[in-house]
Amino acid sequence: MLHHISRRGFLSATAGFLTLPVIAQVSGCKGDAPPEPEKKFFQDPKFELLDLALQHEFGAVVQYGNHAGIIASLNQDSDGSIRDIIKDIIGHEVQHAILLTKILKNHNIEPTVAVWPPQTADTADKMIKKDIAAESGAIKLYQQILTLDFDYNTKTTIERIMHSEETHHNIFTGILPQLEAAQ
Ligand SMILES: [Fe+2]
Ligand SMILES: [Fe+2]
Repeated sequence: MLHHISRRGFLSATAGFLTLPVIAQVSGCKGDAPPEPEKKFFQDPKFELLDLALQHEFGAVVQYGNHAGIIASLNQDSDGSIRDIIKDIIGHEVQHAILLTKILKNHNIEPTVAVWPPQTADTADKMIKKDIAAESGAIKLYQQILTLDFDYNTKTTIERIMHSEETHHNIFTGILPQLEAAQ
């Protein structure tokens, strides 16, 4: 039932930053130019979700980098431990992006360089809540992808990525109480 899995349908059913409108900002867009949605046609709709997942990986890298720096600047991370935890997670998201790019390229699809709009906030605890939401959204997206008719190797890779997102979700959830207490 692949035709039932539309990007819009998926977006309306998910949480976190997946509920944002599809205004994926294309890399290279600069100045005051409005973000342009990616214009791409997918002959096989299942690859559209992989493309969307790749955008989210890029968005997570930007979002988490922003949050690590701001939390450090707020003096709520005196020993740098939160920064280091987030840096490790960013490394994982980059690896996920590399894996998805390889899958798309191997299927003769030009991998996206669009970045899903990152989310930030004015306090550390709100930022981490946005990161938890981002991980929840990623988990839902990968769960959806795993219902589709991909080959064994692709499914195995997606499963590994999804488990990584579950770990990130738990890590962010574990960080949250100390930041909430600091407010
Ligand atoms: Fe990821
Ligand atoms: Fe993640």
